[in-house]
Order: sequence, then structure tokens, then C-alpha cells
Amino acid sequence: MKRRVLIEEKTLQNRVKELAKQISEDYKDKNPLLVGVLKGAFVFMADIIREITIPHTLDFMAVSSYGASTTTSGVVRILKDLDAPLFNRHVLIVEDIVDSGLTLRYIMRLLAARSPASLKVCALLDKTEAHQSMDLVDYRGFEIPNQFVIGYGLDYDQYYRNLPYIAVFEEKVP
Ligand code: PRP
Repeated sequence: MKRRVLIEEKTLQNRVKELAKQISEDYKDKNPLLVGVLKGAFVFMADIIREITIPHTLDFMAVSSYGASTTTSGVVRILKDLDAPLFNRHVLIVEDIVDSGLTLRYIMRLLAARSPASLKVCALLDKTEAHQSMDLVDYRGFEIPNQFVIGYGLDYDQYYRNLPYIAVFEEKVP
């Protein structure tokens, strides 16, 4: 597999710390509920909560739209819903990447209907070029070009989630 490192491990870690600091300030005394979107967000989620200094709880939902393809299927499937109710909670969705924006739009609609006190989004990576809309993400780690990326939780056909950096997936060598 050919890969080109796009965001180094140290750069990722520093940005995660900055985001966590901002979130800790903004959500002080709000007891936020962080909602991680599996599977891709699990590494980012695990790192950012350990840098967040205020009380919070977390939950996960699992969705899938890509299958074994590098382009979205256009259909979002809920594989696991949240355990906790959102009513009156300050909810922060934690995503690894916003690509076409389809997944996030779908999740936002679904969760907004459950009457949270507020609903915002923290995404590590944002391909603004791919969805042409800057207002989807409240806390953005990095804006990245419209290329297929792997590592730090992101996969190609379920592999490479363990890479500690973000790389551009270039080709698969059997
Ligand atoms: C990825 C990623 C986002 C979504 C973004 O999930 O984790 O949830 O795609 O793409 P979009 O903006 O075009 O909708 P994927 O469906 O690959 O599942 P995974 O997290 O289990 O890898």
C-alpha cells in the first residue's frame, strides 16, 4: 500500500489538545454529552476526552455509508443508536471526518429531533471542498484536500485504522 503522510502524529496531538481546551472553556458548567460516531471517531474520541478538563459523559452511535468503497454510497445506515436520551443535554457530536457531509447531516437531523439543549459538531478533518459548506462544523481540527485518507481511526476496507498519523491512500499493493 502506498501512502503519503498528510498530518504527522505530533501535529495531530497538538491540535487535539487545542480543540479540547476550547471545548473545556465553552462547555464549562454545561455537563456536555459527547457523541462519538463509530467506527472512525473512536481514536479521536479517546484522545480528546483525555484532554478535556470539565465533567462530561459520552455515548456512541455507529453509522456506515462507505462499505468497501472509497466513495460514499449515498445511503447512511444506523448500525447502533445511542444508549442515553438527549433531552436537555448539551450534545457535541465527535466525528473523525466530514467528507460529502451526508453522514453528518443525517445524524444532525436525527439528534435534533430528540430536543437537546444544544447540538454542535467537532470534526477532526473537514473536506470543505467536497461538501461546499463551512457551517456544518463548529470545532474543526484540520481542513484537508479532497483525497481519500486513512489512519488515526480512518480506514480503507476496515484496515489502517491503527496508523498514528493521517495519510493519503494512494494504491493497494496486493
Ligand atoms: C466515515 C466517517 C464519517 C463519514 C463521513 O464513516 O467516519 O462518519 O464517513 O463521510 P460523509 O461526510 O461523506 O458522509 P464510514 O461510513 O466510512 O464508517 P466508519 O466510521 O465505520 O469507517
